[in-house]
Amino acid sequence: MPKFAHLLAGFLAPLCIATFFLSTLLTELFGSHAAVAQLKSLIVTPGLWIMVPLMAAAGGSGMLLARSRKGRLVEAKKKRMPFIAANGLLVLVPCAIVLNRWAVAGSFDTAFYVVQAIELVAGATNLALMGLNARDGLRMAGRLRIGPAVAEKAR
Ligand code: HEM
Repeated sequence: MPKFAHLLAGFLAPLCIATFFLSTLLTELFGSHAAVAQLKSLIVTPGLWIMVPLMAAAGGSGMLLARSRKGRLVEAKKKRMPFIAANGLLVLVPCAIVLNRWAVAGSFDTAFYVVQAIELVAGATNLALMGLNARDGLRMAGRLRIGPAVAEKAR
């Protein structure tokens, strides 16, 4: 059961961040202020209420699975998780809330775009870290073919 939960959360959590990232980029580039405000509101509710539990589920179920595993791949995944969690809770969540407030108030000034840029960089960072965790996870589960050098690390 934790295996299936981890596979599901490990797939949906990065998908969630990727959706926020792409929809933000597209609406900022091509959408009206009203469209940006609508998206900011959707990212907070229901977005954050989906993203935060998914990240916690991926991390929590991963830690459970890791109890019976050793090796550099699992250690690398464990080391990445605090950065993913801190980046999510301390940067992405506050940025989403502040941007939503400002967008509702129609305040699209320099501060808005600075925070928007910070949010995009943090989102891309988390996407990359989660991508690495998914790659290493698929390798450990034997779903991704690995060469002899990586097989050595997995032991
Ligand atoms: C958001 C972060 C994470 C993502 C996106 C992620 C993603 C994945 C994916 C996609 C798999 C393959 C599952 C399968 O094919 O059945 C996997 C497996 C695995 N993950 Fe994670 N993972 C994350 C965090 C963690 C953490 C923090 C740990 C703890 C060290 C961990 C430990 C494992 C282990 C041990 C497996 C192998 C399970 C098996 O033997 O089948 N994961 N992960």
